[in-house]
Amino acid sequence: MDTKHLGFNSKLVHAGAHRDPYGSAVVPIYQTSTFAFENAQNGADRFAGLADGFIYTRLGNPTTHALEQAIAELENGYAGIATSSGMGAVSAIYMALLSAGSHIVGTASVYGPSRGLIEKHLSRFGVEFTYVDTSDTENVRKSMRPTTRMVYVETPSNPAMLVTDLKEVADIAHRHGAVLVVDNTFASPYLQRPIDLGADVVFHSVTKFINGHADVVGGIIVTKTAELDRTIRPLMINLGCNMDPHQAFLVHRGVKTLSIRIERAQANAMRIAVWLEAHPKVAWVRYVGLRSHPQHELARRQMSGPGAMISFELKGGFDAGRMLMDNVRLATLAVSLGGVETLVEHPASMTHAGMSHADRLEGGITDGLVRYSVGIEDAEDLIADLAQAMERIPDRTSSHS
Ligand SMILES: Cc1ncc(COP(=O)(O)O)c(C=O)c1O
Repeated sequence: MDTKHLGFNSKLVHAGAHRDPYGSAVVPIYQTSTFAFENAQNGADRFAGLADGFIYTRLGNPTTHALEQAIAELENGYAGIATSSGMGAVSAIYMALLSAGSHIVGTASVYGPSRGLIEKHLSRFGVEFTYVDTSDTENVRKSMRPTTRMVYVETPSNPAMLVTDLKEVADIAHRHGAVLVVDNTFASPYLQRPIDLGADVVFHSVTKFINGHADVVGGIIVTKTAELDRTIRPLMINLGCNMDPHQAFLVHRGVKTLSIRIERAQANAMRIAVWLEAHPKVAWVRYVGLRSHPQHELARRQMSGPGAMISFELKGGFDAGRMLMDNVRLATLAVSLGGVETLVEHPASMTHAGMSHADRLEGGITDGLVRYSVGIEDAEDLIADLAQAMERIPDRTSSHS
């Protein structure tokens, strides 16, 4: 079905649907590693790209292809490339678009492994890097070099919740002959469509909001142009980080409810953020929906809603953060985000514990910072859960790490 003319919610339900010989209402799981050719000529033609049809699941599969088509349409891009994980998507993008001597300018407070892959691994192959606070676009402008091939932005960023002006950084990147790559995991295409704002490549950890049910790890890349698709897809295929058809089926099922899940979770998030901001044990709250967020106005311009991710700082610092973790009952104490269930974590002692204290602070990860991914439960229950956990934190807690 051609869904390009439909509204976003109709696309969520119908994009990527294919005509099944048995009339299956949803795209079935084509759980096969390989596809039979009709005859020798047909096999040769499929390899030569002269005949339609799949060849081998690492190269493409109908279930995975349906998801790729759906997300490409939702992001207003040319094509989707589904990967085994969000990091699979990051790896394929870096390896396809960077070479020895290439320079990348990136958001300092990105998801750690996407920065670590450059700093610890691709640097061994001659890739150079500069990580800056991209929420101040002047930092990006000043970091550009003649060898800069990529500007890599995560917005809102994890867990500092910094927002970067995508139109401005796209402009800077393009004036220097670089591509703009955007990690759109926190916002999802429901709230933010970076290609419309100038990005060349967008990707997601679909593990998060797109799948939305905390039962799949996966990733997807969407390119703006056919040329970028022709550059990245073969690299992904040869890297072998393709998505499995069963994974793709589950993710595609999650896609259909993306907007209603996010609407409900962000309504909860707004109530919780307001409640937290008034709580005496909370130093500050970072939620792009609050007027107190330094880039509230920018977020309103480039996102259609504030989303469901909140970070907040406990006055009691490191120990208070750990105490909150031990006392929440309804929120699940776990990393990851974007699921129907509320997840809470303490970056300084968990996801970002491997960083030095100074590096953490530079990335906005203070000792008492709590990352709260709001789910679709009842807001009253989530607030009651936080309230009872806060009560158990003594008024005076140390703030060492
Ligand atoms: C913003 C962001 N980007 C990328 C990733 C990596 O995704 P995955 O865990 O699916 O490999 C994550 C994972 O937490 C993330 O939060």
